[in-house]
Amino acid sequence: MNYSRIQGTGGFLPAQIVTNADLERRVDTTAQWIFERTGIAERHVAEPGETTCDLAEQAARRAIEAAGLSPSTIDLIIVATTTPDHIFPSVASQLQDRLGHYGCAAFDIQAVCTGFIYALGIADQFIHAGNARCALVVGAETFTRIINWEDRSTCVLFGDGAGAMIVTAADKPGILSSDLRADGRYKDLLWVPAGVSQGYEQTRRNEAFVAMRGNEVFKVAVNTLGRSVLQALESNGLDIADIDWLVPHQANERILAATAKKIGFPVERVISTVKTHANTSAASIPLAFDVAVRDGRIQRGQRVLLVGFGGGFTWGTVLLRY
Ligand code: UT7
Repeated sequence: MNYSRIQGTGGFLPAQIVTNADLERRVDTTAQWIFERTGIAERHVAEPGETTCDLAEQAARRAIEAAGLSPSTIDLIIVATTTPDHIFPSVASQLQDRLGHYGCAAFDIQAVCTGFIYALGIADQFIHAGNARCALVVGAETFTRIINWEDRSTCVLFGDGAGAMIVTAADKPGILSSDLRADGRYKDLLWVPAGVSQGYEQTRRNEAFVAMRGNEVFKVAVNTLGRSVLQALESNGLDIADIDWLVPHQANERILAATAKKIGFPVERVISTVKTHANTSAASIPLAFDVAVRDGRIQRGQRVLLVGFGGGFTWGTVLLRY
């Protein structure tokens, strides 16, 4: 059986930065409220005309370069996104065209903020089964496009960006386990009411924005993230001390701190980019991973646990030896 390993990572953030002070001028909020309740100080926002595929391409090229490969080696492209450029074709198909290497399977998956965990888990299965040897896995979002900039309870929370990994076949793991979950009973706590099959009329009625019952989402997020970490450890026969780094979905600094406290995980071993990236949905985990690889915290041979949580609700873990 083939195992899979992370051969290279990349990340990309749009140049435009929107600070909390900028948001003070747009909605009834204060920079202090945003920072104290979320840990967010600023977020990157795509310029008009800058698309999810543009961000995905830059992150993908950086991951390919870090892996020391040429795009022609890639035999599977998976993009996790909730904010594709078009209804179709997929961002993955567009990305394949940008990379100029044709023929391999390319598709998008949608699990909102857990999207990258799903995409990485699926890529691992492809490689295990012998159906791929070199996967490009991307989480990319222009999430700010589906935000109502007059709704202070959501517009302060999100940003845009992309993160990517090159995952290759290996004779030893690499990815040690993946666990993908969902509970559709929570579908209305965090959602966009408008949708394609309901017709575009509804979209025009101003419902094409993220709606969230933030406080309830917060509580479920902390419980679910904590439980997922403990389940991943138990099913791998590991202890908290065996994990070098925890890379959680980056929604709110208080969610990260409360999760770490709840399960007794040392907060200094939790990678956080909340302060400067805000919540970039499916991009948040690969972006945070890439930041920590490039600044030297995550090193080869270390055990890293990725844990995601998002709309659906969806959640999941990927445990890996980097
Ligand atoms: O990606 C995964 C999904 N997303 C998340 O995980 C986000 C989860 N939720 C959260 O991060 C937090 O619930 C928020 C940051 C969204 C809100 O923080 P909170 O401590 O849960 O506040 P709250 O919703 O209980 O609201 C407290 C007060 C309310 O006022 P009243 O009713 O107490 O008078 C809100 O209207 O804060 C008010 N408020 C604001 N005030 C100033 C809400 N948003 C703002 C704002 N500025 N931007």
